[in-house]
Amino acid sequence: MTSPVRFLTGITTSGTPHIGNYVGALRPAVEASRRPGTENFYFLADYHALIKCDDPARVQRSTLEIAACWLAIGLDPDQVFFYRQSDVPEIPELTWLLTCVTGKGVLNRAHAYKAQVDKNRAAGADPDADVTAGLFMYPVLMAADILLFKAHKIPVGRDQVQHIEMARDIASSFNHLYGEHLVLPEAQVDESVALLPGTDGRKMSKSYDNVLPLFCPREELRRHIAGIVTDSRAPGEPKSVEGSALFQIYEAFASAEETQQLRQAYADGIAWGDAKQMLFERIDREIAPMRERYDALMANPQEIEHILQAGARKVRERASPFMAELRHAVGLRNLAAQAQGAARPKAKAALPSFKQYREADGRHYFKLVDAAGHLLLQSTGFDSPQDAGRAVARLKQQGWLAGEAAAQPAPGVDDGTIRAALALMAA
Ligand code: TRP
Repeated sequence: MTSPVRFLTGITTSGTPHIGNYVGALRPAVEASRRPGTENFYFLADYHALIKCDDPARVQRSTLEIAACWLAIGLDPDQVFFYRQSDVPEIPELTWLLTCVTGKGVLNRAHAYKAQVDKNRAAGADPDADVTAGLFMYPVLMAADILLFKAHKIPVGRDQVQHIEMARDIASSFNHLYGEHLVLPEAQVDESVALLPGTDGRKMSKSYDNVLPLFCPREELRRHIAGIVTDSRAPGEPKSVEGSALFQIYEAFASAEETQQLRQAYADGIAWGDAKQMLFERIDREIAPMRERYDALMANPQEIEHILQAGARKVRERASPFMAELRHAVGLRNLAAQAQGAARPKAKAALPSFKQYREADGRHYFKLVDAAGHLLLQSTGFDSPQDAGRAVARLKQQGWLAGEAAAQPAPGVDDGTIRAALALMAA
């Protein structure tokens, strides 16, 4: 079995999804989540939201809307990892470890931060005006999002590519210092998904106030579509598809055949009102069933909360043992289990190990001991050596103790130490 390719996507919870987000990011992500041989992580980046939004009600509202959106358009939380950033304490924890290997000079070059500084300079203001440390640290938090789950591919727009490159650099620095723990991620920019124009023909964006909302009542969608800017050609006059926002939006929803029909209708001089009606019908055909699910979910926030909590538990089963490994790697260690590589990671030679044995009671046991022979984990008795062996295999494979009734940490040893030991063996 080859190991799966992991994809990871985060959305900052500071706004309301529009049709441009749907076509450019949400729809392709949900389609991608069904590919075999992949693992897919989707999360609500609410810590990132705090960087640009200090309105608590808006952060909460946006988190709810974006979560409902993912579910309504067909993301299956049982098939993917779907969670909220702030439910995973390992993310800020890793952020700090990464902060300590990130050059300040690297962060000085981040676009979002630089743009603010340039703007301040141009205005003759203090260069750091309105720059929080959060804005400055944004790329490190994002690197932690990615590196914690050993993600390989990050589907992003062009504007985020620099952040992925920074995550790579940060991961390399960490690995150079502490051993090969982190996977270097790659940005995946899909050139084929067109940037959707908004109602005024510029890129669809909330900051231009030209968006078509993804989920709003049917009649409101109709009104927004009626507002799409067209030229002044009268009914009967042939129209050009070049530079027609209406046409481009239609194309993003229609089959090749349907698109061809509209192209022909343009040439035949369709009235703009009729073209808008076609666009409305076409979008609504795709969106209407999702809108129904969306409305039901929005009316039932505790269901969403429940799904997110379950998602958090699922990702933390990975994050927690990996974080234990990383804590160990940098030297945040249980002091009782001393002596594992006092200095640099020559530690490879001195791995912890499992020992299996039989006691006078006739039962079969195993234990986990560290390189210095200290007991870390003690099993209960098994009827056969095979049973004991299977429990060992399970521990090795999952690197995780939760619910493992067959073994107990030795006195004075915490879960984290054991997970780190298991991770070390697995590495
Ligand atoms: N910064 C991304 C955005 O604003 C959101 C984000 C946060 C993200 N963490 C991420 C995207 C990790 C991909 C991977 O669009």
